[in-house]
Amino acid sequence: MTHLFQSVAIVGAGAMGQGIAQIVAQSDCHAVLYDVQRAAADTARNNLLALWQGQVKKGRISAQDAERFATRVSVAGDLAQLQPCELVVEAIVERLDVKVSLFKQLEGIVPTSTVLASNTSSLSIAAIGAGLAHPERFIGFHFFNPVALMKVVEVIAGLRTAPEVATRLFNFAQQLGHTAVMAKDSPGFIVNHAGRGYGTEALRVVSEGIADFATVDRILRDQAGFKMGPFELMDLTGLDVSQPVMESIYQQFYDEPRYRPSAIAAQRLAAGLTGRKVGEGFYRYLDGKAQVADEPPVPVVETLPPVWVSPRAARRVELLLLLKNLGAQIETGQSPSPHALTLVAPLGFDVTTVAVVERLDPARTVGIDMLIDDATTKRRVLATNPATRSDMRDAAHALFARDGKAVSVIRDSGGFVTQRVVAHIVNIASDICQQGICSPGDLEKAVTLGLGYPQGPLAMGNLYGPTNVLEVLFNMQTVYGDTRYRPSPWLRRRGAIGLSLLHEEA
Ligand code: NAI
Repeated sequence: MTHLFQSVAIVGAGAMGQGIAQIVAQSDCHAVLYDVQRAAADTARNNLLALWQGQVKKGRISAQDAERFATRVSVAGDLAQLQPCELVVEAIVERLDVKVSLFKQLEGIVPTSTVLASNTSSLSIAAIGAGLAHPERFIGFHFFNPVALMKVVEVIAGLRTAPEVATRLFNFAQQLGHTAVMAKDSPGFIVNHAGRGYGTEALRVVSEGIADFATVDRILRDQAGFKMGPFELMDLTGLDVSQPVMESIYQQFYDEPRYRPSAIAAQRLAAGLTGRKVGEGFYRYLDGKAQVADEPPVPVVETLPPVWVSPRAARRVELLLLLKNLGAQIETGQSPSPHALTLVAPLGFDVTTVAVVERLDPARTVGIDMLIDDATTKRRVLATNPATRSDMRDAAHALFARDGKAVSVIRDSGGFVTQRVVAHIVNIASDICQQGICSPGDLEKAVTLGLGYPQGPLAMGNLYGPTNVLEVLFNMQTVYGDTRYRPSPWLRRRGAIGLSLLHEEA
């Protein structure tokens, strides 16, 4: 195969530099590693040789492959040796001044035909390229850690980057076996921007005392199909990494409330509870395993009260069928009898508001999240309001657990847990489309590969219904009076006319 770049310099031989060198060598291009600390470059090369030998032992690659890859990685003792390289990928410390000074130095060494790329995850491509004599050949090339496994890379053209440079790098990424996506130069690019929906909203749920970390994780895993709950994920990434990203994106968007970070995370970071690697984050770890308290048991209720369902409940027909299957005694009157458990299923509104608006007795009113088709989830989520009697709460819990499905009971909140987090993710993704940061298709690819969500955020919006997501946001904005939940115009238009979020305008 003829490669678009035969020889690639990688400056900065840390975690990312080593990973980039690995995939370059594996695609049979030449990788030249340079680091201010020579030892770091040597270590990276030795690590790669050991990694390939390990793969030979496991039968994943042949001994000849390992040998060939090894001949493709060399170490440069000084920057001047990078002169023949056709592409330089920088993966040094995340500091604007240091990166600018490196690229200025490189301009004095490599010919103008050499493409200069930065793996920065948070700095502006335009800002790094501003001081260069030839900013048109400077571009962002943002990989994820670990590079070989995270098969997506963002190609970020700055304001002065030549379009053909972006196309060339895009095609080169495909030659490396990665999926390339084109991103506009904007804070967090695609993946780190889209990723603001999950953790920040989950932190907000916890900060409001609605549910604890473990309950939120369980709900999002079991109801929405996330592989890891947001708190497990933050523990894995480390708050020392994720909190600065949350703060930086918030600040770069001039305090946009959708990205507002959480005081809880800032405090935990200050306390050094950064996650799995230090043995304690949101969870405590023993022998690498999170210590999670058991869920509260299902209450034993001798006689269940009759159940009355609000006529305005979401998925009301499904809810009635579910209650029938659970063997509930269903009331059909216009209003509940004096002993009935009263069920509401709001989208976005809290149980309290619904009880008041529908003139229901709050002491007997419990909410259930019906955003998601019950048949497709492994957990049901109920919410009480401040006046709900404990016998009514326990009766609802026991009833919905009758077929063995897990049940979580949380405190009242606009939009339960899944509604809030899903709506926030879909809204932020919609705004990425509204701002033209990338195409809807690239957004979906970048998020599924870069964040491992069960679906792309727009497909997630389609699954739950753009109109429902819009309703959740509108109502949450009313409950909280917070512009954080104002729907992006992109979602608003599509949701209002019931259009798929993946529909591209002609
Ligand atoms: P690291 O700290 O593991 O490695 C950085 C390396 O650069 C060190 O070996 C250091 O000696 C070297 N270095 C520092 N200044 C240098 C200079 N002026 N010239 C040459 N070498 C220099 O860092 P890591 O994690 O590999 O990150 C590197 C870059 O990649 C940063 O811009 C970071 O934001 C970005 N990035 C990091 C990701 C991650 O998860 N670690 C993910 C995506 C991007």
